[in-house]
Amino acid sequence: MTAVVAGIGAVVPDRLVTNEMLAQRLDTSDEWIVSRTGIRQRYVAPPGCSTSDLAVGAAERAMQSAGVDDVGLVVLATTTPDRPCPGTAPVVASKLGLVDVPAYDVSAVCTGFIYALFSAAGALALGHTESALVIGADTFSTILDPADRTTSVIFGDGAGAVVLRRGHEDEPGALSGFHLGSDGALADLITVPDKYFRMDGKPVFMHAVRRMTESSRTVLAQSGWTAQTVDRLVGHQANVRILQAVSEQLGIPEDRAVVNLDRVGNTAAASIPLAMADAAKDGDLVAGHKVLLTAFGGGATWGAATLTWPDVIAG
Ligand code: UT7
Repeated sequence: MTAVVAGIGAVVPDRLVTNEMLAQRLDTSDEWIVSRTGIRQRYVAPPGCSTSDLAVGAAERAMQSAGVDDVGLVVLATTTPDRPCPGTAPVVASKLGLVDVPAYDVSAVCTGFIYALFSAAGALALGHTESALVIGADTFSTILDPADRTTSVIFGDGAGAVVLRRGHEDEPGALSGFHLGSDGALADLITVPDKYFRMDGKPVFMHAVRRMTESSRTVLAQSGWTAQTVDRLVGHQANVRILQAVSEQLGIPEDRAVVNLDRVGNTAAASIPLAMADAAKDGDLVAGHKVLLTAFGGGATWGAATLTWPDVIAG
């Protein structure tokens, strides 16, 4: 038995922030941001809108997409929990009206969604539950230093979620392989040392390309796939140049790499489910597509997963 994707949904907050708007208060420009990252705009949560609010919005859409009003497990990937303690997942489960379900947070920064997917897929495969909600949600705007142009131009807020159910490996939607890794010696590259988030962009870029490529190769071999098998590469949406480098090194044509960071920026744990939901809504990701997911994030953490896209309408 394995985990099968049964529904997907995503949300971004209402407040649009364009590169031009950032250039009015920071020493930056639309030209620099677009040429170095590919990002043109992002959405920012208004005061009072927390990670759990976005997570609930995405989860409701995913549950509607799956046609269910109940699940047996909630796993939430986030780096910006509503509070340091307690976890945000129980709050999300409660707001969704899910009573007495196991609910916990996963902290793996931008790799969080793949780690959360792995955790829920394991519970399903072992028969501990029949269904699960896996959510990636972040409000990075709450931890960005407004005076730091190196991070302020990159991140946006958002949430994405999938409903998983227990199913068979040959079913559409089936998750077929996973590879995860970490290296705590790189912990200082992406960190919140005090009030604000800090990132050492250049080495992060280099490690991200290397680890996303290696992890993808491992999971492709594990799944019995080659680069030619992959219809869509859904990589963590940090920088379009990273996505180009990873697809090139893997030998996957660049037009198979899903890109939505131009519209939403880097939404951390929300990045992959948000990109999948957007691509499915745009008709760029369709039933039967062989999909490779990969991410790199703070920790350092990285990972990859493979799945066959199901016949679902994204919410
Ligand atoms: O989500 C987790 C994973 N995160 C990532 O994968 C992020 C990976 N890193 C990156 O995407 C890139 O390293 C960045 C987009 C963060 C930075 O791009 P870069 O090409 O590595 O630029 P850089 O940091 O080497 O900076 C080049 C120049 C510097 O000026 P000098 O020293 O050459 O005079 C920076 O001060 O660009 C300057 N700079 C900026 N200029 C205008 C840095 N940020 C900005 C800015 N606007 N926002």
